[in-house]
Amino acid sequence: MKRSSHQHEFRCIACGTRVDISKRFTCPICGELLEITYELRTRRQGFVNSLKKPPPYNVWRYRELLPIGDAHPISIGEGGTSLTKSDRLANMLGLTELYFKNEGQNPTASFKDRGMTVAITRAKELGVRTVLCASTGNTSASMAAYAAKAGLRAVLIIPSGKIAKGKLVQAIIHGARIVKVSGNFDVALGRARRMAEQRDDLYLVNSLNPYRIEGQKTISFEIWEQLGKRIPDAVFVPVGNAGNISAIWKGFRELKQLKLINRTPRMIGVQAAGAAPLATAYDRRQDRIVPWAHPETWASAIRIGAPASWRKALNAVHESNGSILSATDNEIRRAQRLLADHEGIFGEPASAASVAGLIKARRTGLIKRRNAIVCVITGHGLKDQSIIQSE
Ligand code: F0G
Repeated sequence: MKRSSHQHEFRCIACGTRVDISKRFTCPICGELLEITYELRTRRQGFVNSLKKPPPYNVWRYRELLPIGDAHPISIGEGGTSLTKSDRLANMLGLTELYFKNEGQNPTASFKDRGMTVAITRAKELGVRTVLCASTGNTSASMAAYAAKAGLRAVLIIPSGKIAKGKLVQAIIHGARIVKVSGNFDVALGRARRMAEQRDDLYLVNSLNPYRIEGQKTISFEIWEQLGKRIPDAVFVPVGNAGNISAIWKGFRELKQLKLINRTPRMIGVQAAGAAPLATAYDRRQDRIVPWAHPETWASAIRIGAPASWRKALNAVHESNGSILSATDNEIRRAQRLLADHEGIFGEPASAASVAGLIKARRTGLIKRRNAIVCVITGHGLKDQSIIQSE
């Protein structure tokens, strides 16, 4: 079947305005972020047919629900990560069904590759020559690798001295141009957004680019398929810039809209306590965040004070009857250790926030013994060796 990129639209998540975009990702009326929508009805049969293919799973298996026309995917084998059933931690936490979605198994060792394969394929489709992002490390590592594969130039803006060495090594080896700014991620993202606005030749691939979100929503499709087309009761996700929790929720929402599932999981976001504007807004029942000027946490990947996708994340949590928790650095450290020495999974500090959140949720009774739980382990621990300095 011939596909065309015109089969999707962009809709403002706040005012609902339908927008025609190529390179800008905010609503011209109210300035909020856009999301991609499809006429799902016409895509249902194609999607269902693609599910009949035997595994392996991967991002492009779900192409019917991706916003890419006939373009050849820029792929390095993203997605298809393990969903591992827990024995020891489940036991310890008094849970009957606990799984880890191990996103560290992606080509550059984080979930970012799922979104990047789609965003870089789109960049090629648009004919851009240079891609740009700000990053706490993983987005830049992923962008650099996919840009290399696509033959694009990569420019990344990083907060000086604030990203884990392993991630910087990845960006360097894949040949990205690195611009360091003093200040934190939020400053770097502000700079990247302004550069992309001023220069038509730069294509921004941060998660405010809705093509990223489309790729990342395949985490949900895989979880659903790997559980034998069952839906967990809750999904725990570390939250930084808040793109991923929004993406995972969009995936489940679309499965429900397609009537392939009749209920959705609760989305539980987990922020580091030192960088928790969303958890704070959630606790205070506020419908918007107050950005934190000086976010601080050991989990450098989620050291973010002004999450760009805050509104999408709050929507995800409210619509799914979920929650946003926070975990202290000590709780995150302990969770990282537990995951490593009870399950054999080495997640980077930010990844362990999902487990730290689950431990807390068991203590407070938010999660019950028989709830089926998935914790998303977002990136591999080898990227971040700061554990040595914290010994
Ligand atoms: N876990 C890891 C390992 C991350 O690298 C990130 C974000 C998150 C969780 C949070 O995901 O931002 O979608 O809420 N890293 C970004 C980066 C910010 O630049 O690599 P989010």
